[in-house]
Amino acid sequence: MIHHTSPEVGGMGHPIKRKEDLRFIQGKGNYVDDVHLPGMVYGHMVRSPYAHARLKSVNTEKAKKLPGVLAVITGEDLAKANLAWMPTLSYDKQMVLATGKVLFQSQEVAFVVAEDRYTAADAAELVEVEYEELPVLVDPNKALDPGAPVLREDREQKNNHIFHWEVGDQQGTDQVFQKAVVKAKVHAFFPRCHPAPLETCGCVADFNRATNKLTVYMTSQAPHAHRTVFALVGGIPEQNIRVISPDIGGGFGNKVPVYPGYVCAIVASLTLGVPVKWIETRSENLQSTGFARDYHMTAEIAADRDGKMQALRVKTLADHGAFNAAAQPTKFPAGLFSICTGSYELPTAFCEVDGVYTNKAPGGIAYRCSFRVTEAAYLIERAVDVLAQELKIDPAELRRRNFIPAAKFPYKSPLGWTYDSGNYEAAMKLALDKIGYPQLRREQEEKRKQGELMGIGISSFTEIVGAGPAHTFDILGIKMFDSCEIRIHPTGKAIARMGTKSQGQGHETTYAQIVAQELGIPAADVTVEEGDTDTAPYGLGTYASRSTPTSGAATAMAARKIREKAKKIAAYLLECSENDLEWEPGKFYVRGTPSKAKTIQEIAFAAYTNIPPGLEAGLEAVDYYDPPNLTFPFGTYVCVVDIDKGTGEVKVRRFVAVDDCGNIINPMIVEGQIHGGLTEGLAIAFMQQIDYDESGNVQGGSFMDYLLPTAVETPHWETDKTCTPSPHHPFGAKGVGESPTVGSPAAFVNAVVDAVSHLGVRHIDMPITPWKVWNVLKEKGVTG
Ligand code: CDP
Repeated sequence: MIHHTSPEVGGMGHPIKRKEDLRFIQGKGNYVDDVHLPGMVYGHMVRSPYAHARLKSVNTEKAKKLPGVLAVITGEDLAKANLAWMPTLSYDKQMVLATGKVLFQSQEVAFVVAEDRYTAADAAELVEVEYEELPVLVDPNKALDPGAPVLREDREQKNNHIFHWEVGDQQGTDQVFQKAVVKAKVHAFFPRCHPAPLETCGCVADFNRATNKLTVYMTSQAPHAHRTVFALVGGIPEQNIRVISPDIGGGFGNKVPVYPGYVCAIVASLTLGVPVKWIETRSENLQSTGFARDYHMTAEIAADRDGKMQALRVKTLADHGAFNAAAQPTKFPAGLFSICTGSYELPTAFCEVDGVYTNKAPGGIAYRCSFRVTEAAYLIERAVDVLAQELKIDPAELRRRNFIPAAKFPYKSPLGWTYDSGNYEAAMKLALDKIGYPQLRREQEEKRKQGELMGIGISSFTEIVGAGPAHTFDILGIKMFDSCEIRIHPTGKAIARMGTKSQGQGHETTYAQIVAQELGIPAADVTVEEGDTDTAPYGLGTYASRSTPTSGAATAMAARKIREKAKKIAAYLLECSENDLEWEPGKFYVRGTPSKAKTIQEIAFAAYTNIPPGLEAGLEAVDYYDPPNLTFPFGTYVCVVDIDKGTGEVKVRRFVAVDDCGNIINPMIVEGQIHGGLTEGLAIAFMQQIDYDESGNVQGGSFMDYLLPTAVETPHWETDKTCTPSPHHPFGAKGVGESPTVGSPAAFVNAVVDAVSHLGVRHIDMPITPWKVWNVLKEKGVTG
């Protein structure tokens, strides 16, 4: 049972203001580039202008002679220390600095260290690199051609194929398709996009020769995991490495991988014995760090005439760029893409994915996404709309006929997941009621008669978040649990530390609220600290909406351990048996005599001053939480668009988002997460793409052509919620941070396609620019 706490205590459900914002709104945040250490010097990367070229020579002489330059490190230098290559999170390897050849534009070739940033940048211009251009592959289909140039000559396998992965019942699915009376098929490309956090990546590496200790301040979403990687790759004893992630200005998955810049700054600091700072520019961030998506997908649904779905078949080509550096649990080469059966009761399914190398930046990170769940949700929600079009059944009605019924949870999907809880029909009903669906359909009919274009798009997505469980989820062997340690001070105030790391999600507030909920200590009295590997318990970090399902759960469990001990102390102080005590947030009292009570603050004081005989002093606990299952948040988004026939411009008139993330810790923060995620979804659907020309030149390498939505482009978001608690999470919560980015692209695209479906249009690939829409309208003879 969830007790309700007072606003002063601020436990679960209170929309308390974000504690961290006090410093942020005063401009007093402490980001990596705010770290200034005595004697600190600066690194700058030399990058390849070519997407594929033999590296004939790297001449550093002129650069080294520039006054103020301290060192220029090349791939050959790193090779001598066996550091020219590093392992990726997907059991591939990646060049730190190029040796032999370069494989994508902007690849790291040399690292210049100088007394100041400007000298380092100037000296980088003086590094003379001789390249011999090689044929470039940007199309993953062509990369699989038998005659295609082999990009990764370092591998034994002499082609560009990385992996084949499949799940489900191929034979059973094929048989259903052979007999099916209705089949719907869609080819959908989810373009390569980029998380583009406002703060780019960077670090300060500080090796202290006197203590032999390396401290790395870095923009890391997973500080402990990075420390372990540095220890294993660099051979530095792990206790001598301290990773500190200070405030982070947005991560969205971009700050999970280890980038060459970090390694080079560490090598430079080890070599020079001074702190070395390296901070990316915006273009470096967009052009060389972890991209997202780049999935070429085909989905087919078999159904009967009433629209009851019988099978799903999915085939995908995944473009991973030059190195397979996808950041995801190791056993899942295509992430959690097998959630692609979505919210629907599909008797059988089969899904296969092939990964391919091309001359593009490496990555494949979970951009506000639980490892390819965004691609999966987009594909199934698009495919369902195509089926609705094929059958001429209303898309809402078709969804209703196929939803997994609320009574069938926990539900085992044909691709192997056990969904914890859900009530899809309730979420869709609320969203449709809120937007006035039948009236909108009538309006659309009228508008069509007048030749106007208006569309309604629905997306009823299901998510899968909260990696672990440890039995299946690991990263390079490290199990995906997470942790919390709570210490209660004698005066009843507390500090709590976690293995996760906020990048703007408000953990300092929400974790304090969990402690407040469980112990009755006001959230204002709980300091939350993350990101310092010397003090926080080990954990796998924050991405893929895993913080609430893992560290959030660990926080509740650690607090409950403290409560157990507090009960013993209370019984001693109240001179009664533990069995006679009742708990309400903030105090233990004697059953039937509420006035005989001890507050948590009194108990905390006694833990250090009046300890029961036989009990250890102090009041603290640590919990490493291994979730028994993932959590499956869901929701329905409905979007209404109007299209200008003359220009192809799409205007989002309304957008209703109904989310269900189980029990909510802080409704204000959750709403903020949804607003932000919807805005990112809008950007992906309409504005953004990291594209490449035939020579491998990046086309979205700056904010001039990789567009970020501002308040001007962003529509008004109408949000609401249903609440279906997770049955296995300690306080019934599910993750939420990525739901809006996962669920919304399909709602936008479905709305645009719905506006032109009567013209015979089945699909338009993202980003849906006015130019693309105008061309569709021109082809259909609607505009001149
Ligand atoms: O891992 P990440 O923090 O990105 O995602 P999350 O666990 O979904 O949490 C995002 C933010 O929403 C955190 O501040 C959570 O504490 C908060 N949240 C909440 O208040 N209630 C929930 N049921 C889920 C998340």
